[in-house]
Parts: sequence; C-alpha cells; structure tokens
Amino acid sequence: MTEPTVNPLRSGMRMQRTPEPCTMVIFGATGDLTHRKLVPGLYNLQRERLLPPGFSVIGFARRDWSDDYFRQTLVEDVQEFSRSGFEEPLWQSFAEGISYNRSSFDDPAGYQALAEKLNALDAERGTSGNRLFYLATGPESFTTIIQQLGAAGLRQSPGGGWTRIIIEKPFGRDMASARELDAEVHKVFDESQVYRIDHYLGKETVQNLLVFRFANGIFEPVWNRRYVDHVQITVAEAVGVEGRGNYYEQAGAIRDMVQNHLMQLLTLTAMEPPGFYEANSVRDEKVKVLRAMRPLAPDEVAKYTVRGQYTAGTQAGKPVPGYLEEAGVPAGAHAETYVAMQMFVENWRWAGVPFYLRTGKRLPKRASEIAIQFRSAPLMIFDQGPLNDIEPNVLTIKVQPDEGISLKFESKVPGQLTQIRPVTMDFRYNAAFGVESPEAYERLLLDAMLGDSTLFTRSDEVDASWSLITPILAGWQNAPPPEPYAAGSWGPRAADEFLARAGREWRRL
Ligand code: BG6
Repeated sequence: MTEPTVNPLRSGMRMQRTPEPCTMVIFGATGDLTHRKLVPGLYNLQRERLLPPGFSVIGFARRDWSDDYFRQTLVEDVQEFSRSGFEEPLWQSFAEGISYNRSSFDDPAGYQALAEKLNALDAERGTSGNRLFYLATGPESFTTIIQQLGAAGLRQSPGGGWTRIIIEKPFGRDMASARELDAEVHKVFDESQVYRIDHYLGKETVQNLLVFRFANGIFEPVWNRRYVDHVQITVAEAVGVEGRGNYYEQAGAIRDMVQNHLMQLLTLTAMEPPGFYEANSVRDEKVKVLRAMRPLAPDEVAKYTVRGQYTAGTQAGKPVPGYLEEAGVPAGAHAETYVAMQMFVENWRWAGVPFYLRTGKRLPKRASEIAIQFRSAPLMIFDQGPLNDIEPNVLTIKVQPDEGISLKFESKVPGQLTQIRPVTMDFRYNAAFGVESPEAYERLLLDAMLGDSTLFTRSDEVDASWSLITPILAGWQNAPPPEPYAAGSWGPRAADEFLARAGREWRRL
C-alpha cells in the first residue's frame, strides 16, 4: 500500500495557533455590525483563549462617547448576542483592552490621535506594532478612511509589526465603482494586506464544502456534467429589510446577496481541486470558475433572471408589512427583495449544466442550501406509475439552519410488491459532533489576525464577480419593476414559471 503524498505546504495547515499580540481598530464602532457581530465574536474568541495576550480594541467613530461609555454599550450587546453567554470576570479582563477614539472619518487630527494611541498600546500592552484595521462603516466612508490612514502614515507599522485591513461588503456597486475603490485601496495598501470579508466563507458548512469535495474520493468522480443534471443554490431569509431600508434600496438583493454570498457558494461548488489548501491556490481556482462563467447578454437578462419584491403578507401566523411600508424605505422604492437566475459555467466540467440561484427576503423560512441534482438512471427497469414515484438523486448541503449533508436515493418499500420510494441518508453536525459551530465572524477575525487570507476575497475575484453582475444590472435598467410576491410565500410566480420552462422545479424546502 502506498502512503498518501505529504505536501509540505499542506502539513502546516491551520493548527490551533494564537495570533501575535495586536490592536484591532474598528471604524464604525458605534454601528450595528460592531455591536452584534464583531465584539461578541471577539469576546467568544477570548473565552476560548484564542486571542493573543495584550489584545486591544480601539473603536473609531463620530459619536461623542467616552471609553467607559463605549465599553458599557458593548456589555449589553455581548450579553444579548454572544453565543456562549456572559461572564462578568471574563468580560472585565477583555474590556481592559477596549478604548474609544472619537473623530469624524475625514479629520486628520483623529488619525494622529489614533497613531499616538496605537504607539502607546504597543508600549503598555505589548502589541508590537501589529494592527488590524476593520472598516465596519457604510461604503461611502471606505475611501476617505483609507486615504486618511495613508496620510497619517498608518499603512505600515513601525518596528516591523504587521498592518492589515479588513473591508466589509459592499465592495463597489458595479464594475466601475469596484475598480475605483480597488485603485484607492491599492494606493495605500498592498493586496497582501487587504482582507475583503464575506461572512459566508466563515460558516462551518461552507468551509466543509471543500473538505467534503476534496477530502473524500467518492464524490469528485460524479461532480460534473456527465452525472449532474443541474445545481440549485438557495439562500432564503425569513427576515425583511430590518430597518436598513435606505441601504437596501441602493443595493437590492443582487448586490446585497448574489454578488457576494451566492457567488461564493457557487464558486466553491464548481471549482477544480486546488493544489494545496492555501490562500492563493484556493482563490486561483475560484477566480477560474468566475472567468469561465458567461456574462448574460443584455437581451438574455429578461430570459434568465427574475426579480421580486415582497408585499404585505403573513409570516408564522403574524401579519407583516410589505417592502414599501418598511421603516427607512423611501417612497417609490423599486429595489428587488428576491432574485432568481440561471448562470452558465462554461468549462469542461460544467458545460450545459445550469446553475440556478435564488435568494429572497420574507420567504416562509430561513433556509440555505446547495442542491446537486443528478441525472436519472439511464434506463428504468422498474415499472413507473402510481406505485413508484421515482425521483432523481439529490445531494444537499444544508448551509443553515440544521447544518448537514443529505443524499436522497430510491429504495424498495418492504413487502411483496416492488414499490419504490425516495429515502435520505443524513449527516447532521449537531448529532455527529455535539458541539456548537463558531460564528462566521469568529473564524474570520482570527484568520485575519493570523494572516491567513484563504477565506477572504481577492481583488481579481471581486472584479470577475462584478463582470457577471454588471450586465444584469444594465439589463434591468429599462425592465419592468420587480414582480410582487406576498411576504411569507416562496417568491413571485414568475420564478416558478422560469424553471418550469426548462422542465424543472424549485426544491421545496
Ligand atoms: C448580509 C446581508 O450580508 O447577510 C443581509 O446584508 C442578510 O441582508 C445577511 O440578511 C444574511 O446573513 P446570514 O448569515 O444571516 O445568512
């Protein structure tokens, strides 16, 4: 028996490591993301002893808050949003490293004060010049902050420490603006310092997609056009726009979800095996998939995409308002809250296999999955008819909730007749491992501190993704408004008709 080849790059893979001491500066520290995700995530990392000694946080924002007041607001959020509860002594030791820097984003004096604080922390808490900037602001502030960091000499650390910057989505609103932003980023930071975050890549199930595909020998041989009929990727949300009407009206579901999260799910599903599990090898393969995808021509957009917008309806027995009645949504709003589309991956593995994507808000439930539907058996030797309801094999990767993987196949019903029914073979994270998965942000924050950018989006990946989305935006410009669907339903009827035209139907979740 031969031993599997040990690859030197692979052998260093993601052991439990503690990052070097560092300071994280959060721009937009008074906002929702900081309070719901970032600080609770950091607190959980602290609980698991994954943060380095001396780890410090500086909140940078416009509001006139003191260090104490900032810490106080965070306590309530950690109590509410931490997945592992709240312990006063642990919080106290974590909070010692938290401070606040009040400044508008365009005031050079604020950045000078920040530089001084950072130097002081290096001396007091041993953070050795290691800095992680996090842009948790609205996208309109990204360029200003980046320019000011550059002007204040904060692009590099004194004394050989590292400086990295995490940028939240949205990274641009079309190809041109994404390129402009990228140019601004690269005027100040080298690509190796830039971590564009897409929190879907931090989800356990999404990372497991690579392990499932590339740590097992039996799935890859059937993972192609010879065996796969089509792929359906669904990200269904029960929530509405949650008070973010202004942002959402600018974004719509295509920019909010498809350009980033759904495209990530698609590329991980479709990519070739990378040579190593390492940042550039993985991202090279993802970019190749995006480049192999065919952008829709303007006259194809109506044929291959469907837009919807929710109207008032009922969810879990309660009446809910329509998108146009939501707080913060401007009058005459026209953003889509639902998108369904077909995408084409034109390479040897996938030519002719449709990838159907759908996402929407105010659907009946939160359910995200990737379903690989296989071709039917080449010849049916069993009687088909009312007794035998023969369905194709489907492999489903359940991203959330109820994380797991299941395979549907046909089975004989016990008894004298040859009756056939579909059954499933299920793997459930909870049952298999009995531990709770970390939050996506925990994993990604730690990776950025460790300097591992595998699960972050590279500049060329963003560019390639916009090259597919921008023609759709153009095609929608003179199109009729989104089709209405009642909140609590599975989207507009046009989405069902769209798949029915191809002789297929959306999976019932
Ligand atoms: C965010 C979007 O990126 O992802 C939100 O801006 C959306 O509109 C959210 O609700 C969904 O994330 P998750 O992790 O709840 O599926």
